[in-house]
Order: sequence, then C-alpha cells, then structure tokens
Amino acid sequence: MLLGRSILALVTAHAVASAFQIPVVWDAKSTSIDTEPLEKRPFDFENPETNCKYVSQPWIFDVFQNIATDMEGVFKYAADDITFRIMGHHPFAGHYDNAMVAYANSLWRLNNCLQDRKVDAKIWGIHGGCDQAWTVMEFYFNATTNRGDFWELTSLWVARWGEDKKLHEVRTYVDAGQIIKTLMDNEIYFNSSDRVYHSDFVPGPAGLPPWMNKTGLAKEVNPEL
Ligand SMILES: *[C@@H]1O[C@H](CO)[C@@H](O)[C@H](O)[C@H]1NC(C)=O
Ligand SMILES: *[C@@H]1O[C@H](CO)[C@@H](O)[C@H](O)[C@H]1NC(C)=O
Ligand SMILES: *[C@@H]1O[C@H](CO)[C@@H](O)[C@H](O)[C@H]1NC(C)=O
Repeated sequence: MLLGRSILALVTAHAVASAFQIPVVWDAKSTSIDTEPLEKRPFDFENPETNCKYVSQPWIFDVFQNIATDMEGVFKYAADDITFRIMGHHPFAGHYDNAMVAYANSLWRLNNCLQDRKVDAKIWGIHGGCDQAWTVMEFYFNATTNRGDFWELTSLWVARWGEDKKLHEVRTYVDAGQIIKTLMDNEIYFNSSDRVYHSDFVPGPAGLPPWMNKTGLAKEVNPEL
C-alpha cells in the first residue's frame, strides 16, 4: 500500500515535471550542449560541372575553403558594385556597399574575441551556381574564445555572381544570438562587471565627450590630444 502510494507520487511528480519541461534528474553531461565541434561531413558536389556560364561549385569550393585564414583571398572576387547585406538584428547587421567595411565591422571584430584570432572553417554545402547566377553557401566556423570557451558559428551566404566570376550581391545570414554573446563575453565595450576596476577610459565608439579633450586627464590617457 505504502509502496503503491510512493510509486503513484513519483509518477505524478514526473508527469507534473514533464508538463512544465523540468528535468526530474539534472544530468549535466546529457544536457550540456555545444561543447564539441560538429563532426566533419563529407563534402559532395551536387553539380561538379566546371564548364559554366557563371561560377562552378568546385571553383567556389576552392575560393572559400580558406575563408577562415585568407579573407583577402575572397575579397579578390568582390565586384566594385557589390551590395553586401548582413541580415538580422544584431550589431553587425547592415547594408554595405564595400566588402572591406563589412569585414572590418563584423568578422574582424569577432576574430578579436577569439584566441590568437584562430578560426577553423568548413564549407558544408554549395548549392546552385554553374549556369545559374545565384548560389547558396553554408559555412561552419569553430574556435576558442579569449575566455577559453568553445565557440562555433554557422553562416549562410546567398550570393549573385556575374559572368566576370565576381560577387555582385551577397546576403549573409548569421547566428545573431551567438554574435551578441561573443561580444558580450569578450569585447571590452560589453564584458564588464562590478568586479572590474576601471582606470582607463572605455568610451565606446563615439569616443570621449568633447569637453574632456581639454582636461589633463584625457591628455594623460591619450597624449595626442
Ligand atoms: C575546430 O574543431 C576541430 C575538430 O573538428 C578541432 O580539431 C580544431 O582545433 C577546432 N579549431 C579551433 C580553432 O578551435
Ligand atoms: C573583456 O575583454 C577584454 C578584451 O577586449 C579583455 O582584455 C578583458 O579581460 C575582458 N574582461 C572580462 C571581465 O572578461
Ligand atoms: C579631440 O581632440 C582631437 C585632437 O585635437 C581631435 O582630433 C578630436 O576631433 C577632438 N574630439 C572631439 C570630440 O572634439
């Protein structure tokens, strides 16, 4: 009787917990996520054809396989009239008509949050291309942050190529949550807490207030003033 009641209580507790999505037993191992890079998938060309009006999938693979270490290599293929849009709602999102500005404002800023600025990249997929101007490229990046955390990011480029084999239009979709978290955890504009003793100015992108230019303190920090 007693045992029956205990089992009933346990079953009820479990049902209530499930209804509220509360794990009955907290197993840190089974519930921890995103601490391992996703396994490498074998790369398969959907369309290996290289005799193409625009760019072929194998050609795109060659250009982008070193994207993590050689961004300049990719810039060679940005047309002068490029429209580059980083999609979403996060600090990097925006409309750029210069690929270098887009890079400096986004990937470069992110790189500085990562240990030794070292990032690995994999291309997961290339779709379209060849006799179609539009392509879709899927990327996976992994690294270790300056704080020592495991870090990964997935990103999608939807791109229009010209017959000149140059990028004329790019819309890149990124993981906004991960970008914001990375900046919050690792970038000096964001990563403070009340345990941090501040003796330096950290004024943010707008710089110092104009009247501070005249004070001795500002000169001490920046002798140029
Ligand atoms: C990315 O993950 C791979 C394992 O797939 C690992 O060997 C490599 O060190 C990681 N790269 C970085 C920069 O952390
Ligand atoms: C914040 O990030 C900077 C690098 O931009 C680093 O030097 C500093 O140690 C970080 N502070 C905290 C509290 O993590
Ligand atoms: C502060 O002074 C520097 C050097 O004289 C000048 O370049 C800068 O524009 C000034 N900043 C403001 C906000 O007035």
